[in-house]
Amino acid sequence: MHTQVVIIGGGPAGSLLAQLLHAAGIESVIVERRSTEYVLGRIRAGVLEDASARTLTAAGLGERMAAEGDPHDGVALAYGDQRVRIDFAELVGRRVMIWGQTEVQRDLYDALGSWGATLLDSVDDVAIHDVTGDRPRVTFTRDGQAEEITCDWIAGCDGAHGVSQDAFPTDLRRTYERSYPFGWLGVLSETPPVSPELIYASHERGFALCSMRHAMLSRYYVQCDRDDRVEDWSDDRFWSELTRRLPADDAERLQTGPSIEKSITPLRSFVAEPMRHGRLLVAGDAAHIVPPTGAKGLNLAISDVVLLAQAFVDHYARGDDDGLDGYSDRALRRVWKAVRFSWWLTTLMHRFPSRDDFDRKIQLAELDLLATSAPARATFADNYTGLPLDLGEVG
Ligand code: APR
Ligand code: PHB
Repeated sequence: MHTQVVIIGGGPAGSLLAQLLHAAGIESVIVERRSTEYVLGRIRAGVLEDASARTLTAAGLGERMAAEGDPHDGVALAYGDQRVRIDFAELVGRRVMIWGQTEVQRDLYDALGSWGATLLDSVDDVAIHDVTGDRPRVTFTRDGQAEEITCDWIAGCDGAHGVSQDAFPTDLRRTYERSYPFGWLGVLSETPPVSPELIYASHERGFALCSMRHAMLSRYYVQCDRDDRVEDWSDDRFWSELTRRLPADDAERLQTGPSIEKSITPLRSFVAEPMRHGRLLVAGDAAHIVPPTGAKGLNLAISDVVLLAQAFVDHYARGDDDGLDGYSDRALRRVWKAVRFSWWLTTLMHRFPSRDDFDRKIQLAELDLLATSAPARATFADNYTGLPLDLGEVG
């Protein structure tokens, strides 16, 4: 088999790339390690930046999001019994869209299905070959049979545990990493959200987040130890810890119920540079990981893919390779700003076991600065709602 672009990984990055390329008349094949059922069942963050929501709409994926998603004009930061509202609409004239990644993924797979995309799922042993030559290849096994696809380009959209990073020679690749000494325990419950807007809470006992999917589905998180196991956290322990970390009036309003999903995520910042080697270009979690504080993971995957799709359109439609040559630098400029923001927000809001009262005073001073300074809030709003992204021809 031959195609123009082989996309490794059918998560949000890979499937959106296939959709944008198809709209521009560029052929692709997706090879995905997991079953479609597994990919559609994953639960992840649910905040779309303004540019991400516009990208999905431009890609023909906006219908359900417009009907069922929930635009938010602000978030709250809480500490002790204080709450600071960051009014996005007033400060930067943008908003975010609450629309879960699970829904985005479903719309993407439905769209790919509607035009008959080639999505080869449940493949094993994916390997990348000859990326520095003119005709790269991807080999894999499917139903026990060895298969090979030749192509012009390979897009590595295979997430944090994929194979595309291994195709970069170690002397050409530089990685930057920060791991945090805690995790997030997340719970999904069929209860009304405690507040119509998200609350990010900083408390002596640790961070907590109140988020939601819709009117009867809440998503809550508490900071936990890195080594905790889900079994360590009964529902009762979770609700009582969440309640203690919220301002008293929110805690009083909180409606608890049985968890329908519970999981622990370790927190990590990671960037691998560059994002291109020969005819291999990487996007999304395959190139960078951010802690979930600020919900930048999916948004970065979307912005990488917008830049990558634009680069392929320039290459195929005009023979212009500036986009492909400059892809890594352009993507990384945006990536690092989101890495910085999510690192900063993580540092501001969490309890670090090794830190002392001085560090806590600094956190509280910064929260007070946000409470009292409109420019400080505007900077927050600018980063949270998403830095500018020119959708160009893919928009
Ligand atoms: N071969 C084929 N597919 C692979 C391989 C492989 N060797 N390794 C991983 N994959 C698949 C995974 O099964 C997954 O479906 O690649 C896909 C990568 O998808 P994601 O992990 O969702 O990454 P990405 O598409 O970059 O989306 C980023 O997802 O992880 C979250 O927080 C992150 O929200 C962000 C978003
Ligand atoms: C979520 O709703 O899952 C969520 C929201 C905001 C975050 C992280 C996760 O910063």
